[in-house]
Amino acid sequence: MEVIETDVAIVGAGGAGLSAAIAVAERDPNLKIALLSKVYPMRSHTCAAEGGAAGVAKDEDSLDKHFDDTVSGGDWLCDQDAVEWFVERAPKELARIERWGCPWSRDADGKVAVRPFGGMKIERTWYAADKTGFHILHTLFQTSLQFPSIKRYDEYYSTDLIAADGRCQGVMAIEMRSGQLKTFAAKTVIIATGGAGRVFPFTTNGAIKTGDGMAMAYRAGVPLKDMEFVQYHPTGLPGTGILMTEGCRGEGGILVNKDGYRYLQDYGLGPPDPWPRKKAMELGPRDMLSQAFWHEQQKGRTIQSASYGDVVHLDMRHLGQALIDERLPFVRDLARSYLGVDMVTDPVPVRPVVHYTMGGIHMENLVETPLKGLYAAGECACVSINGSNRLGSNSLTECLVFGREAGQRAAEQIGSLGAVNDTLVKERAEASRQALADLHMRPHSGESVSGIRREMHDTMESGAGIYRTADSLAQTCTDMANLRDRFNRVALEDKSAVYNTDLIQALELQSMVEIAETMAHSATKRTESRGSHQRLDFAQRDDEVFLKHSLATYNGQAAPTIDYRDVVITKSQPAARVYGGDV
Ligand code: FUM
Repeated sequence: MEVIETDVAIVGAGGAGLSAAIAVAERDPNLKIALLSKVYPMRSHTCAAEGGAAGVAKDEDSLDKHFDDTVSGGDWLCDQDAVEWFVERAPKELARIERWGCPWSRDADGKVAVRPFGGMKIERTWYAADKTGFHILHTLFQTSLQFPSIKRYDEYYSTDLIAADGRCQGVMAIEMRSGQLKTFAAKTVIIATGGAGRVFPFTTNGAIKTGDGMAMAYRAGVPLKDMEFVQYHPTGLPGTGILMTEGCRGEGGILVNKDGYRYLQDYGLGPPDPWPRKKAMELGPRDMLSQAFWHEQQKGRTIQSASYGDVVHLDMRHLGQALIDERLPFVRDLARSYLGVDMVTDPVPVRPVVHYTMGGIHMENLVETPLKGLYAAGECACVSINGSNRLGSNSLTECLVFGREAGQRAAEQIGSLGAVNDTLVKERAEASRQALADLHMRPHSGESVSGIRREMHDTMESGAGIYRTADSLAQTCTDMANLRDRFNRVALEDKSAVYNTDLIQALELQSMVEIAETMAHSATKRTESRGSHQRLDFAQRDDEVFLKHSLATYNGQAAPTIDYRDVVITKSQPAARVYGGDV
């Protein structure tokens, strides 16, 4: 088996992974960097981000206001020291990538334009029309090309971390075009693989977001934190789940039910101002808007679409074609292409769709995991700045800020970590090779990847969706235990080596099954409602017992163990979340 020796292995080449790679290269050009990605970097999911990136820009705004919106948006489950650290660095990173070429939209006076976003009390979302992720990703990718020390391994699927002797010593990965398993013996590893929205059936997430990095860390003994918190974005296209950016509402779009009524006024989100409006309403936080949809559905006030189930309407017509084409050309095109609806002349059917995993790899000290030599950044990492419900547009900035820090930290600490242990690395590599060969050649048993995946989707949506109960979660936990067991008998149709997508999908499914179990068990234990985790049987937030992060620890063929650790409060004591005032 080929062994590739490197100083830093980075798994994932989206916003966080590229930021980390550039940071290592800038800090020390002599360090060898292996940048692994299961897709070409520009197909990373960062590319799909539309509406923008948060960072204080206006004189009327302040770091304190960004902090407050983030912490109350997260329903006080954020670690406040981390949020303070983040908001301070946010504008600097957004300015830095502008120098690298990111074309931020601008106002007529030449200043960077910012738009309002959900849960914000003042505009602070920098945007590049509605293709912000695309431009950020291209900017980072092009910048990375100037560093010869960054060696790319595109279309390498990482399977396991090499954890030995209390330390991470590398990562195993399949070169997809040959099917060969390779060992990356690395002094440090940074995981930047994004979230796990594909655990659910309706999601804005691309097919690649299967939580592989979270699962690798979990299997290596690093706990997953706050996994019960899964964000539904209130406006996805029915059928595909494609995002209709919050920028639609930021620019003035409204949400109406089957009676043409702006129903959000019934859910504590303020009065229905005329456009251009000045109150929260459609710019309330994502969790509350998605929950409001659910209530409208219970009341029979949603719209039944011919083939896609219940929806509400996102109405943009009053904005006019000129504004839509200037600021929202991409989503206009998406709605036309995928639903045949032109938002200039007709309202767009939308529904809540899974968008973001607030939970992820347990981080200590911002970017370090409890396993020495292992770092993480971006959606796969739980720092935690997002608490129980992420503030819209904090995530692109999070990739830049924490990606950079992870790279710098790895480069800084590498000297003290010393060489990897070749014998241990070989042993672990052989175990991974054996496990992969077993899966690859297993005789057919009747269990298929697509069958297990469909059942996982069904049970996660019905039992662990926008609202949950003890019964629904118990059923999901039971279903997931069965599916985990059945996964052990899954067999591949395709036994070939070259671009074996059957094999890759099986490995992705293994990650998703493990992650889904952590979500269901963490949600079962949290007998309160907070942010995106809403229990019909425990409707109140319970700060006395649950102002805590959950930690799910891997137990092999048994359910995860769930423990807790305190939330860090620095300056904002838990209070009621109040929206409906000025934006
Ligand atoms: O709606 C959006 O454009 C999403 C942005 C985000 O998740 O931060």
